[in-house]
Formats: sequence, structure tokens, C-alpha cells
Amino acid sequence: MTQQDSIDAVQQMLGSQGYVCGRALATVVFLSLKLGRPLFLEGEAGVGKTEIAKALAAGLNRRLIRLQCYEGLDASSAVYEWNFPAQMVAIRTAEASGGADRGALQTELFSDDYLIERPLLQAMRPDENGAPVLLIDELDRTDEPFEAFLLEALSDFQVTIPELGTVKAPEPPIVIVTSNRTREVHDALKRRCLYHWVDYPDFDREIEILNARAPEVAEALSREVVAFVQHLRTEDLFKKPGVAETIDWAKCLLALDVINLSPEVIGDTLGAILKYQDDIQQLQGSEAKRILDEAKASLEPA
Ligand SMILES: Nc1ncnc2c1ncn2[C@@H]1O[C@H](COP(=O)(O)OP(=O)(O)O)[C@@H](O)[C@H]1O
Ligand SMILES: [Mg+2]
Repeated sequence: MTQQDSIDAVQQMLGSQGYVCGRALATVVFLSLKLGRPLFLEGEAGVGKTEIAKALAAGLNRRLIRLQCYEGLDASSAVYEWNFPAQMVAIRTAEASGGADRGALQTELFSDDYLIERPLLQAMRPDENGAPVLLIDELDRTDEPFEAFLLEALSDFQVTIPELGTVKAPEPPIVIVTSNRTREVHDALKRRCLYHWVDYPDFDREIEILNARAPEVAEALSREVVAFVQHLRTEDLFKKPGVAETIDWAKCLLALDVINLSPEVIGDTLGAILKYQDDIQQLQGSEAKRILDEAKASLEPA
């Protein structure tokens, strides 16, 4: 019996890394491991998508390789590059020592010594602990040509380097793709993956997460913080607070020795949960008090 033999085992393994994981997510992670299919996780920012890959790598004791996507990311920065400055130095040195054998120099310049491996190539290298976890983070930031390229890389787990030949993963990496859904990712890529929408946690689960990540925060304050954030998410905001903000805010309040939430404290610390001036402005004045009253009312035993 290993950590990935059942849904329960997967849930426990993630739990042991401080990751609070519901049944649905544990199921899709289990299936992804069992079937060797990439897992596509979509959801708002700060709901714990990136963290799943970290917890999985730590829990399985595998290497974590992260490809952070950004606008303009191209295949060469994702797979490999030649170390051009070092190649130049080698050429100069060969020239200076005179009469270098051109053929030998050519072979030497395009050998492993001058190869800079980027995440996708790194993920195809064998590892003594087993296939690594490859995190392709925030795929929605790249463009469609890169997606098409990735689709190919994910289908055969091999890359061809013209000067060196083809590198094929001995065992496919465990692939986690995330998207904050700032745009739709193409169907073709989604179809290759198992899909899970990572939602904001409900009250009980968010309490559990806060207990796992900030155990030093007292229970009464945790409950108020989570109730407030949960109510805040139902407001019409430009950017709703994620779980990361809940944790940050609780830690800020702890640092300020706050025992109970009040409209004043909330007003002074809004920057920990809301990151847009329009949202902050909307909460100033009587709004914070109204939401706090609602939150506190929801906490009272029925
Ligand atoms: N289910 C969870 N269990 C434990 N911690 C969580 C969970 N969800 C979110 N977090 C916390 O929230 C933080 C932000 O999560 P992250 O994975 O960076 O969000 P995303 O990638 O979805 O934007 C993490 O550092 C982690 O501490
Ligand atoms: Mg992330």
C-alpha cells in the first residue's frame, strides 16, 4: 500500500503536507496518477492550485519542476537553450590557441556542456526518486502557439534537439497544468487532461485550511476572519480575496494582537485582503460594518 493506491491515501498524503483536499479533488488527483494523465486545474487566483503541485511533489518525494508561464514564453525558453556566451568564449579560446580542428570544435560547442536545460527538458530526464512533478503554472498567460507546442510535448514526452538527438522521458512526468482563467485554454489541450475546477472553499474547509497554515491564530478570531471573507466574496468586487489572502490577513491580525474583528480594525488592514483601490474604497465606511454584522450573525449558534 503506497501513498497513491486509493483516493483516501491520496487525500491523506496531501493532508500530511498541510494541504486540505476535498473528496472530488482527491479523486481527480488519484485518477491522474493512476492513469498517467495530466491534470488541468482551473480556478480564481489564490484558491490553492499551485500549492497542489507542491504538496504532491513533497508527499510523493518527487522533484518539482515548475514552468511559470508568461506572455511571450516560447518553446526555446521552455525546453532548452544553447549557452551562447560560453560558446563564444570557447571559440575565442580555440582561435587564440591557433589551428583548432573545426569539426571537433563544432561537436564540442553543441554538447551537453553548453546546453541549458529549461523545465520541459529537465522533466524528461530520469530521476532516481521516480518521474518528477511538472507544474505548468498559469497557462492562460501564454498564447495559442505555445499551447499548440505544449500539446505536442505532452503527447509524447520527448523533445528533439537537432544537434544532439531526441530525449525521451523514461517515465512520463506527473503533469499539473493550472489556469487562472483570464482566457479560455484551447479544447485540444483540455481534452488531453483530467479537469478540475478549484473553487473557493466553504466555511468549514477554509477554517481547516487556516488551522493548517496558521495554527497560531486563536479559534475565535479564525472563525470571524473566515466568516467575514466568505461574506466578502459574495459582494460585487473587482477581485475577490483568495485563500492566500485569508491566511495573510489572519497573520496580520495576529501580529497586531487583535482578538476580535471590529470595523476599525478591518478598515486599517483591508490591504491584506483587497488589492484594488476601488474594492478598498467600496468597503470603507459603513460597508465593512454591515458585512461584519452579517458575518457575526452567521456565526451565532442556531
Ligand atoms: N486547500 C488548501 N490547503 C492548504 N493551503 C491552501 C489550500 N488552498 C490554498 N492554500 C494556501 O493558499 C496559498 C495560495 O495558494 P496558491 O496555490 O498559490 O493559489 P493559486 O495557485 O490557486 O493562485 C497557498 O500558499 C496555501 O498556503
Ligand atoms: Mg498559482
